[in-house]
Amino acid sequence: MATKEMQPIAGLTEEQEMIRQAARDFAQKEIAPIAAEFDESGEFPLDTVRKMGKLGLMGIEVPEAYGGAGMDTLAYVLALEEICKADASHGTVMSVNNSLFCHGILKFGTEEQKQKYVGGVASGDKIGAYSLTEPMSGSDAGTMRSRAVLEGDHYVINGRKSWVTSAPVADYVLLFTMTDPDAGHKGITAFLVDTDQPGFSRGKKEPKLGIRASATSEIVFDNYKALVANRLGEEGEGFKIAMTVLDAGRIGIASQALGIAEAAYEASVQYVKEREAFGKPIGEFQGTGFKIADMKTRIEAARGLIYNAAQAKIRSVETGERYTLEASMAKLFASEMAMFVTHAAVQIHGGMGYSKELPVERYFRDAKITEIYEGTSEIQRLVISRLETGLR
Ligand code: CAA
Repeated sequence: MATKEMQPIAGLTEEQEMIRQAARDFAQKEIAPIAAEFDESGEFPLDTVRKMGKLGLMGIEVPEAYGGAGMDTLAYVLALEEICKADASHGTVMSVNNSLFCHGILKFGTEEQKQKYVGGVASGDKIGAYSLTEPMSGSDAGTMRSRAVLEGDHYVINGRKSWVTSAPVADYVLLFTMTDPDAGHKGITAFLVDTDQPGFSRGKKEPKLGIRASATSEIVFDNYKALVANRLGEEGEGFKIAMTVLDAGRIGIASQALGIAEAAYEASVQYVKEREAFGKPIGEFQGTGFKIADMKTRIEAARGLIYNAAQAKIRSVETGERYTLEASMAKLFASEMAMFVTHAAVQIHGGMGYSKELPVERYFRDAKITEIYEGTSEIQRLVISRLETGLR
């Protein structure tokens, strides 16, 4: 599907504009043509993921010294939006490598951990994953059952984690597990896991509604040994690390929602001008025109919240202040906006919106996950209201 010529965004630096253009060119030339095929097969698109790494898209905010592109959060969200406009599955992999895996290690890791784990993932040669959720612990992330027990110079890890994005292909996992079950969320500790070591295995791949080319599965730990040197942060710091990293991740998911919505919107604008009913283009009917107006307005409102959250994260590098509120507002609004826009896009396209002949139905299916992963809309509302009222 042809996409509109890219409009410049006021205030962007040359570098931000450059990565936005590079991501767009790559996405439209290399990803858009294969997106439907990979969605249908559910195969992981390793070749294009590796190529994205070569372009610097897997470690945009990673300093050059650690093998990344050395850019800022705005550059990251602009590039991610362009990738997701072509295919949200590729965007999911990009978002986990960048904001859940590399960001977590750069923020909390030792120099040795940064040297060992960041470069490969930032270059796309390796795939990273982030594992917090368990079968009985999703939104209530502090209640996990998996365990790590210290034995000399290593921890022995046992348990089952679920819904781990990229797990079927991951080389490394940023894992959160319990070292002190009596301490609640203060008993959670983070580890860097090498998936080629004994005691690690992958469960069945999840058959998903959307983002079908991004692989998701359970992972199982059966007496897996993690060296103390592979602990990220101190014992008991895991929950805070998980939440801090999710703040960054949620800005990425908001950008993913924006990219999906823009693709659905552009397809709709084109369609309402071409498709005729009762002797005129359907866009001339007010019912359709008003849908277009609402879609566009919500897209631009989401963009504002996302760029605002990106700026808050950029400021946090200097100030150390949290940007939890900005990230949650951006994710909440953008994901619900993407559902609204893709739902309207299917409706505008009528039967063709329901057909796999066009990508509109895929946009609709892909949008749904943005309201669920990295914290549901309900969790974002809880985070925002707690921060604003001080009540819980
Ligand atoms: N940054 C830093 N610290 C934070 C924080 C943040 N954003 N949010 C909470 N904390 C700290 C608190 O300050 C508190 O610290 P103290 O103990 O020192 O006071 C501690 O963490 C506990 O906070 P809460 O009491 O608020 O914790 P809670 O149990 O009430 O839970 C929650 C809070 C917001 C509901 C949280 O559990 C949450 O975000 N749940 C959703 C989890 C989620 O997003 N899961 C998705 C996982 S990833 C995924 O989707 C799959 C994938 O592969 C991508």
